[in-house]
Amino acid sequence: MATYPTKRLRRLRHNPLIRDMVCETELSKNDFIYPLFVMTGEKIRNEVKSMPGVYQFSVDTLVEECKEVASLGIPAVILFGIPKKKDEKGSGAYDSHGIIQRAVKAIKAGVKNLIVITDVCLCEYTSHGHCGLLKGEEILNDETVELLAREALTHAQAGADIIAPSDMMDGRVAAIRKILDENAFEKIPIMSYAAKYASGYYGPFRDAAGSSPAFGDRRSHQMDVANALEALREVETDIEEGADIVMVKPAGPYLDIIRRVKDKFGMPTAAYQVSGEYAMIKAAGQNGWIDEERVMIESLIAIKRAGADMFLTYFAKDAARWIDKNRK
Ligand code: PBG
Ligand code: ZN
Repeated sequence: MATYPTKRLRRLRHNPLIRDMVCETELSKNDFIYPLFVMTGEKIRNEVKSMPGVYQFSVDTLVEECKEVASLGIPAVILFGIPKKKDEKGSGAYDSHGIIQRAVKAIKAGVKNLIVITDVCLCEYTSHGHCGLLKGEEILNDETVELLAREALTHAQAGADIIAPSDMMDGRVAAIRKILDENAFEKIPIMSYAAKYASGYYGPFRDAAGSSPAFGDRRSHQMDVANALEALREVETDIEEGADIVMVKPAGPYLDIIRRVKDKFGMPTAAYQVSGEYAMIKAAGQNGWIDEERVMIESLIAIKRAGADMFLTYFAKDAARWIDKNRK
């Protein structure tokens, strides 16, 4: 076996041309899914304090934003709704005239060439901020699943292209698949948040969506950050129940999980670079402590290198512009 001085690994790092020839991982706009927040009202564009560059939109400004997203060559958005009123049962989530349902219709009517994914959960719609119906302080599973299925159906009826359940209730993928199929939506894929951890990195999102739990936390349904084998069981279950794309969330701190999921199941695998990951890079960049653009790209390449086929990222627009600028 050749070794130094015959073997010199630096030969392939000599100049940019040769480095590009041996580059193993390249970002593509096809990989990007851009998360967007929508609320009631008009002409709204509220910047989220803890997420510079991320806004809450009303339906009219959301459509304009989606046109820009599509024109940048980003293929997909995922929508999160902030309803006008919240109640104990999260009624706004499965109201056919709810905020998401109206937003989807408006985007589908006004924007070409854009896949609209909808996040399915109750926490943005419940007065207590929990992801399901409560009995005392317990989050009920089966009763919640029924409502999630109704929510998914109203999203499909509004024109959603992909349904993405983020709640982590047991059995929700099967229930959503069933109700979609019964209503002639058998062609609509399910992207399940399959391995979703009970993570501290969701903090800024909960500011953006106003979905912090009023008491307690999400540990009775989201996964313990310490567990990896359990993530494989979660993913396997969702695949058995009919998930077409499986997601790992968060992304950057869970690259090992992404890799194991991809290797074990070989499914289309998504990863969610969540609000806290974005906020940390933005904040350090704004302070001049890191080179924001460089770390943004590095963070996305790492997620792709770990095995993700696509990522949900608040950097999607910036990264698409970076690709335009750097394309040879
Ligand atoms: C809803 C949901 C959350 C996120 C996506 N869908 C928040 C949560 O579980 O509390 C987080 C996304 C992010 O932090 O960017 N269940
Ligand atoms: Zn939730």
